[in-house]
Amino acid sequence: MAPKRMTAPAITAMKKSGDKVVALTAYDRVTATIIDEAGVDLILVGDSAAMVVLGYENTLPVTLDEMLMLTAAVARADTRALVVGDMPFMSYQASVSDAVRNAGRFVKEGGAGAVKLEGGKKVVPKVGAVLEAGIPVMGHIGLTPQSIHELGGYRVQGKDETARRMLVDDAVALSEAGCFAIVLEAMPAELGREITEAVDVPTIGIGAGPRCDGQVLVISDIVGMTAGRVPKFVRRYGDVRSVLSEAARAYVRDVRSGDYPGEDESY
Ligand code: KIV
Repeated sequence: MAPKRMTAPAITAMKKSGDKVVALTAYDRVTATIIDEAGVDLILVGDSAAMVVLGYENTLPVTLDEMLMLTAAVARADTRALVVGDMPFMSYQASVSDAVRNAGRFVKEGGAGAVKLEGGKKVVPKVGAVLEAGIPVMGHIGLTPQSIHELGGYRVQGKDETARRMLVDDAVALSEAGCFAIVLEAMPAELGREITEAVDVPTIGIGAGPRCDGQVLVISDIVGMTAGRVPKFVRRYGDVRSVLSEAARAYVRDVRSGDYPGEDESY
């Protein structure tokens, strides 16, 4: 029997059952298939694709059309995991109608089962309107990379009492607005715990400590594809960069030497 497909309500129900929500990013069909077979519950087609796949410096330049193309590729993997499309910068900030129309494109054209958008109380009217259109929404607070200019860079959030209070209030507002889960990015573990206890929906941490209801990481970070430094919260589970590099070097060597193709690799 095929495993039961994950839905937004099924993710929400994991808070009550106490099952950890396991989430990873993916940006293409092959990777989505592999991580789905490994048992992840939620695949986020994150706007981290801007850097990871498209080579931009941060997440701000990635366009809605680029995100839709990647989301559709992931959705074609036909996964058990819930596919969540990440709404890129300026696809929902300007108006409620933008938010609804563009969230709708993630479902209609991208094949997503839900969308994610960044922000707390400020985005509640947009969350409500997208939900009214029948599209589940995942919240995202803490370090919200679409606001790096406002935040002054990639910094751990919620370190003083005022910021801590605001993040708890934001999380409660998103939970009450109907988000099916909330991503908590880069905050003290103690605040991750406090927010997790304050809301009725699963918190999915990325650098928010072990007491969140689930965890999400960027696939290229955990498999060792990312060049250079990765954040402190990343645990590396593989070294795909070395595997690819060694294979490519061996191929270059074999073609140059005439060793490839051999008789049995020729018609
Ligand atoms: O874009 C992304 O990959 C994300 C996760 C890091 C939560 O938003």
